[in-house]
Amino acid sequence: MKNRHRFIYPLLIVPLMVLSASAIARVQGPCSACHTMHNSQDGQQMVAGGKGAQETLLVDDCVGCHSSNGSATIVDMGNGDRVPIVFNTVEPTYPPDGSASSALAGGNFYWVAQVGGDNKGHNVYGISDTDSVLSGPAWTFFAPGHSTNCSPCHDTLATKNSGCKGCHYPRHHAGGTSEVVDASGGWYRFLGALPAMMADPTSFGVKGIEEENWEQNPSASRHNGYFGTKDVYAKELFMTRYTIGQFCSGCHGNFHHEMNADQPVDYNGAWLRHPSDVVIPNSGEFMEMNEYNPLVPVAKTSLGGKKNFATVELDQDVVTCVSCHRPHGSPYPDMLRWDYNTCVSGTENDECGCFVCHAAKDN
Ligand code: HEC
Ligand code: HEC
Ligand code: HEC
Ligand code: HEC
Ligand code: HEC
Ligand code: HEC
Ligand code: HEC
Repeated sequence: MKNRHRFIYPLLIVPLMVLSASAIARVQGPCSACHTMHNSQDGQQMVAGGKGAQETLLVDDCVGCHSSNGSATIVDMGNGDRVPIVFNTVEPTYPPDGSASSALAGGNFYWVAQVGGDNKGHNVYGISDTDSVLSGPAWTFFAPGHSTNCSPCHDTLATKNSGCKGCHYPRHHAGGTSEVVDASGGWYRFLGALPAMMADPTSFGVKGIEEENWEQNPSASRHNGYFGTKDVYAKELFMTRYTIGQFCSGCHGNFHHEMNADQPVDYNGAWLRHPSDVVIPNSGEFMEMNEYNPLVPVAKTSLGGKKNFATVELDQDVVTCVSCHRPHGSPYPDMLRWDYNTCVSGTENDECGCFVCHAAKDN
């Protein structure tokens, strides 16, 4: 939050309010902390950084509120609201270890914003220019430059019309009460089929369980819950599976829709691309998987009553895109969750995520 000095609420009330923030997970402080009625007070502009009036009368834009010049990845506004930070200008701690500077679940745009870091995150408007190598999301069903209406989002996220809003349809005031966040809570982290949501925010989004501290301090029994499916699905106009994997596949189509030689019928053929939204079988080397490892999350095909589940359920849980990638960015190429270059077969290595599932390949 760049304009923190504007929030001058007594620090005494913070501990209590933090607790309620965890329980409610929506904005709750005084309107004036985030909105300005005229972008003017005592003749001074109220919107941060001279950015000019913002939609819904906000005091800043997405990047402004969700960035920090310091190292903290959750910024307490001192009024009950805590801002999850996605872009720090000081390198965040990775992997997250519970320190105040730990990168959150989505990763951080710090790495992509650095010179030469294009492949370490999505290149988004307000943080980085267009990707110098990828002119599109690679192997999508769209050819890059397909259409000017679709190219913000589908070719690049580095334009004014896309950026954060290419993936998120924010509903900061939605306060769903269900454990599995769906339409009533604004969907899991405000993710979903963006054009459809612009017409009807309750239409097609991602379901999931939200950990209150955005996984700043993850453990086997404290983490997000991702929704996945075992169903074979192909390209769809909207995302009727509500899974995080289908969300990524909406822009990176072939990485799911053309991953098995037998698609679209079944997944019995040879794997041509690494499976995603595919069940982890209770056989072979996978049988060694047991404890949930938040560095290498699996998605669940049913989430009800599963908050902070601590074990992997073979034949039920699936591998998905975020098992291996951080959507905002990571210290590693292809925004991978771990350093793939250290994955050497026959070598014991707790840092290599491939071995968490392919448990026999390190010995
Ligand atoms: C911590 C920041 C924050 C606080 C406090 C806050 N808002 Fe908002 N509000 C937002 C953001 C961000 C949006 C942008 C779009 C969205 O997520 O819906 C928004 C959107 C809105 C909208 C348009 C969308 C909608 O849900 O109808 C209204 C109206 C609104 N706020 C009113 C208020 C009022 C009234 C208060 C005080 C009771 C308030 N806000 C307090 C951040 C805040
Ligand atoms: C005025 C400051 C402000 C602005 C502007 C703002 N946010 Fe937020 N945002 C917040 C706060 C505070 C929270 C934490 C609310 C909570 O606990 O759910 C938040 C939470 C979020 C979350 C996490 C929601 C969750 O379920 O945990 C996402 C995603 C998000 N914002 C995206 C955006 C995007 C995209 C934009 C621009 C369109 C934006 N925000 C603009 C203050 C802001
Ligand atoms: C709204 C469209 C959109 C969605 C949704 C989307 N991406 Fe992307 N993705 C892109 C575009 C455009 C690029 C190429 C430009 C760039 O790197 O920013 C890209 C690039 C990438 C790259 C390569 C980065 C590089 O520069 O080498 C990876 C890895 C990736 N995406 C993973 C994901 C994952 C995982 C998800 C789901 C959590 C996802 N994407 C969701 C549009 C999208
Ligand atoms: C504001 C950003 C944005 C714009 C603009 C946009 N899209 Fe998308 N699109 C997304 C996101 C995010 C997804 C992933 C969620 C989903 O699958 O619906 C997606 C997914 C899709 C899918 C689903 C693909 C699949 O494999 O299931 C289709 C089809 C699609 N978009 C077509 C279009 C077309 C055609 C246009 C231009 C008229 C367009 N989109 C413009 C953000 C956008
Ligand atoms: C390519 C799609 C994509 C883009 C672009 C994107 N996000 Fe996200 N964001 C995600 C996904 C997916 C998650 C959920 C991560 C998880 O839970 O593992 C997420 C999570 C979040 C969260 C919750 C904290 C966390 O790390 O889990 C916030 C806040 C947020 N995003 C804000 C933003 C802002 C602000 C921008 C623009 C600067 C942005 N996002 C751009 C996909 C995206
Ligand atoms: C098992 C781990 C794993 C899973 C699951 C996974 N990826 Fe990847 N992804 C990688 C690795 C490793 C790379 C680096 C390139 C390579 O080794 O092929 C990569 C590269 C990429 C790239 C960059 C391609 C390029 O040409 O630069 C994109 C985009 C991408 N992945 C998107 C996705 C999406 C979308 C999903 C889900 C449908 C997904 N990935 C699932 C491990 C994974
Ligand atoms: C979250 C668990 C998970 C992670 C992490 C993971 N995999 Fe996989 N992998 C699977 C599953 C499940 C299959 C499909 C098994 C089947 O055929 O039923 C698979 C299949 C494969 C295959 C194809 C095997 C075949 O028989 O065709 C290869 C190769 C592979 N993975 C390599 C990797 C590498 C390299 C990494 C690290 C970048 C990795 N995997 C990370 C779960 C995972």
